[in-house]
Amino acid sequence: MVKLKGLRQINPYVAGQQPNEPDMIKLNTNENAYGPSPKVAEALQNFDAQELRKYSSLDQAELCQALAANLGVSPDQLIIGNGSDDILSMAFLAFFNSGESVLFPDLTYGFYKVWADLYHVPFREIPLTADFEVHPSDYFGDNGGIILANPNAPTGIYLSLNQLEEILASNQDVVVAVDEAYIHFGGQSALPLLDNYPNLFITRTFSKDAALAGLRVGYGIGHPDLIAVMKAVKDSINPYSVDMLAERLALAAVEDWDYYRETGRAIQETRDWFAGELAALDFQVLPSQTNFVLAQPTRICAAELFQQLEERRIYVRYFPKAERIKDFLRISIGRREEMETVLAAIKEICSS
Ligand SMILES: Cc1ncc(COP(=O)(O)O)c(C=O)c1O
Repeated sequence: MVKLKGLRQINPYVAGQQPNEPDMIKLNTNENAYGPSPKVAEALQNFDAQELRKYSSLDQAELCQALAANLGVSPDQLIIGNGSDDILSMAFLAFFNSGESVLFPDLTYGFYKVWADLYHVPFREIPLTADFEVHPSDYFGDNGGIILANPNAPTGIYLSLNQLEEILASNQDVVVAVDEAYIHFGGQSALPLLDNYPNLFITRTFSKDAALAGLRVGYGIGHPDLIAVMKAVKDSINPYSVDMLAERLALAAVEDWDYYRETGRAIQETRDWFAGELAALDFQVLPSQTNFVLAQPTRICAAELFQQLEERRIYVRYFPKAERIKDFLRISIGRREEMETVLAAIKEICSS
């Protein structure tokens, strides 16, 4: 490393690998195997490249209108970002400035800790229970804000709305951010709590439910006052962060939400079938309300299974440095045919 004054040392977030092989089965980053709605492809074909001469919109008004109608909120309760990572990162800058510690679970989306470090936000990691669950009263003391993924990642476990409400009710002086990246796959959204809790900020992504991870669109939902603070942060970093094509295609996705209801249902069915099959092979499978399962093999160690799956070009996620889950694998749920192939491979590996 060159010796210069002022260089920052950062422990960055380590994102899942993006291998690109023709016959691979890629189940390592919780992408949506069904692909985007045909209406998205149509909107892409109809897009006139000449339009790119201009900057994109500052407020994504059309997309906000469509999303607001879809979610039953008003457009001034929405902010669009360049993926939900963008929204979440700005939430750290916008909401957690009291100097008191922000709370999040010891096992959750790894980026929260990275943003806290990056933005010098003090934080406290609250251990999940032995069953990998969030215990609401652990979040009742003084703090500088809370962030929870619900369902949680990488566990897949969902915290009930009643329990989430307990956390909101006892933290009315700070923002409680709820990351609903996976809410499409079974859990009940915290949206109905918005009316009573102006301290609630929800984030969502088009990456999982709408199968648009490569497009990079996410959004935040909250009280208009919270959205105004977020917009001020966005305008202080990159006001045009949502590109024009992304806005257009995300709009097409929202307008064809029935398609996504269907694919979401198919993923849930495949997940429940696959989880049952793993349990029959003596895996410990955490109850998932997401498009992935976190499971611990017992007949073989996780590292060995990970490696042998990779040799068959089946990519799943292994977290050797995360003490609590170093014996688990996180497996995204693909199409039924893919998961049948994966299951057959696991059976073969475990019996050899
Ligand atoms: C819990 C959670 N939140 C947020 C994200 C980020 O999603 P996006 O693609 O919208 O940046 C992910 C991505 O895997 C995630 O697992």
